[in-house]
This record gives sequence, C-alpha cells and structure tokens, in this order.
Amino acid sequence: MAQVTLKDVTKIYDGDVLAVEQANFEIPDESFTVLVGPSGCGKSTILRMIAGLEEITGGDIYIDEERINDIPPKDRDIAMVFQNYALYPHMTVYKNMAFGLKLRKYPKAEIEQRVNEAAEILSISHLLNRKPKHLSGGERQRVAVGRAIVRHPKVFLFDEPLSNLDAKLRVQMRMEISRLHDRLDATMVYVTHDQVEAMTMGDQIVVLSEGKIQQIADPGTLYHKPANQFVGGFIGTPPMNFIETQIVNNGGTPALRFENFKVELNGHLQSALNTLSGAAVTLGIRPEDIQVGENGKNSVGTQVDLVEPLGNHALLYLRTENNSFVAQSDLIDLPQHNAPLTVNFNMDKAHLFHPETGESLTAT
Ligand SMILES: Nc1ncnc2c1ncn2[C@@H]1O[C@H](COP(=O)(O)OP(=O)(O)OP(=O)(O)O)[C@@H](O)[C@H]1O
Ligand SMILES: [Mg+2]
Repeated sequence: MAQVTLKDVTKIYDGDVLAVEQANFEIPDESFTVLVGPSGCGKSTILRMIAGLEEITGGDIYIDEERINDIPPKDRDIAMVFQNYALYPHMTVYKNMAFGLKLRKYPKAEIEQRVNEAAEILSISHLLNRKPKHLSGGERQRVAVGRAIVRHPKVFLFDEPLSNLDAKLRVQMRMEISRLHDRLDATMVYVTHDQVEAMTMGDQIVVLSEGKIQQIADPGTLYHKPANQFVGGFIGTPPMNFIETQIVNNGGTPALRFENFKVELNGHLQSALNTLSGAAVTLGIRPEDIQVGENGKNSVGTQVDLVEPLGNHALLYLRTENNSFVAQSDLIDLPQHNAPLTVNFNMDKAHLFHPETGESLTAT
C-alpha cells in the first residue's frame, strides 16, 4: 500500500477562488484518514487533486517518495468512489465492476477472479447479473466500492459515499467500510461533512474550514483537546457551548465572571491564562459537563427555554440574561419550559479560548 503526502498544496479556481490554502499533511500507509468540514471547505478539491482530477495550483503531492503532480490520473494507482456512484446504467453489476480492468487489458480469468472476490467481500455475488436500476441505494453503493476494490489500488478515495443513503443504512455501510479497511489493510481517504461519520471511522481526522486545516488528530484528541473554537464547535453534538467571560481576582486567585456568575479556575486553567494580555477570555464547556443542581460552586442560575427528551438523556436549552447554552441531563423528572434551573459547570472539563483568535489556551 502507500503513504500520501501533501506539501503546501494550494488550489485557486478561476484565478480568484482560494479553495485550499497551503495544506500540509501526511496520510500514513494503511491509515483511514477522514477529511471533514462544512460545505465548501475544500474537501472534495483535496481529494480530486490527490486523484489527479484537478490541477494543483501550488505545492506538491507525493505517493511514498514519488511526486505525482504531473502523473495522469490513470497511472496513479488510486481508486475513487463518488457520492453519486457513477455506475454505467446499461451494464450489469459484473460488467460495471470489470470495466476498469478490461480497459487496462487484464486477462479474462484474472478479471473474473477479482470481480468474484470483491463481490464476495461485499456480499453482492447474487447481484452480478443485475443492472444498477434494479438495485437499492445501498447495493449500488456496494457496487461502486466493488469497482474500486477490483483494481487493488494503492489508495482508496471516498467522496461522501454514504450521503444518498437513509440514516440506518448509512450506519451499516459505515461499519462495512471500516471492516473493509481492516480486511484490505488499505490506505483510505474519506471525505464527509458529517462529524459523527468522521469520528466513528477515522483513525486520523483532518478538520477543514474555509480551505484551511484547523487540526489533524485522532477522534479522542479532537474531542478532548480541540485546537481552536472552530473544532470545539464542530466536533460533538450538540456542540460545545461558548461564553465570553472576564478574568477577575477571586481572593488572590483568578476566576471567570460573566453576568452575575463567577466560576473558579483550577491550576491547569489558571496557567493557561498566562499567555493572555487582556481580561477577556472565551470559556468553552460541553453540554455533558454542565450538571443540573446546586452545589454552591460554579453555579449558574438559568431559565429553561426548551427540553428535548432523547430517551436515555435529554438536552436542556438554557438561558441567562445574555447567554444561552445547552446542558445534557439524564434526569427522569425533566424541568418545565420557562422554569428556573440552577446548573453547575464542571470546570475540570472546561476549555479556554483566545477571545480574538479563537485559538485554544488549554489544548496542549
Ligand atoms: N470547478 C470549480 N470552479 C470554481 N470554484 C470551485 C470549483 N469547484 C469548487 N469550487 C469552490 O471551491 C471551494 C471548495 O469546494 P469543494 O467542492 O472542495 O468543497 P467541499 O468541502 O467538497 O464541499 P461540499 O461538502 O459541499 O461537497 C468552494 O468555495 C467551491 O465553490
Ligand atoms: Mg464535496
């Protein structure tokens, strides 16, 4: 298999649309790397540049030691699976899967062996004689993946391959693609705008926003140590809450104040303040780190805006005079709309961000 390296890769469309800015990262051999970010952040552009379907404006892409900028797509030994599957409607499943190998003039016996093997891996052997219009969405998806597998490529690229499927099938296909990765020991790069897909599938996740890489990390690090406010707000559902606060002196140690509330800072958070020059700092706290109840410390009096019961837990949308935030609760007796509710911030789990740049002060 293969490692893919991007060095200072930039893409400018039509002379003025900066789609990808100085992307630098490595896709390790046999890794499952996910590119995730909101619509328009440059995910597909990066994938298409790796595949050779889009010209690179600046920088270099390598597969292992080889610079591939000028190598035509067909010679890159990369297979791509698209969102719309791009199956040939007039060909059977077998022919769809065999087509690429036929073009490359593989012997018939070899083609047959590879198609049958891929069909078996994907549990579609019984569908080989059907045409795509007689398949369900999930089955079509499998054929599209099969077409990539038969090529035994060095690198698999997936561009939002599951977005046309319903929620349940998406979860199933997600597991199947992960299993496929384990089975083939292949290098896979997977694009999605769905952070749950990214977190569940990726061993390395590249978070993008507006053409720029925000953070590259494993799922646990992204969740627990987001490098900036964008990542904190993008990874996790519901997202991290952010509150603008002032640093105040609380009997010799710093604390944070917003409105009439004061929350304490433990040692780790106190030392994070050293890099700040002003008195303002953005507090980040996840919904599950806000507990209902009054323990006399780090308490905030709120009003309940909305309660969303989700079975094993509920989301409480709370508001104070100038802020609103979400708490996650496993209470059985849920509060009423508009009821007053005191909550406590678990400051051991809190994050601090620079009020202007949004960079994390606590991620290191
Ligand atoms: N062929 C093109 N010509 C001009 N601009 C383009 C072209 N393709 C993409 N762009 C622009 O480049 C930026 C990145 O597009 P890209 O398709 O890579 O985003 P994406 O992250 O894949 O988004 P989505 O999640 O919607 O698929 C966008 O601003 C888009 O409008
Ligand atoms: Mg895209």
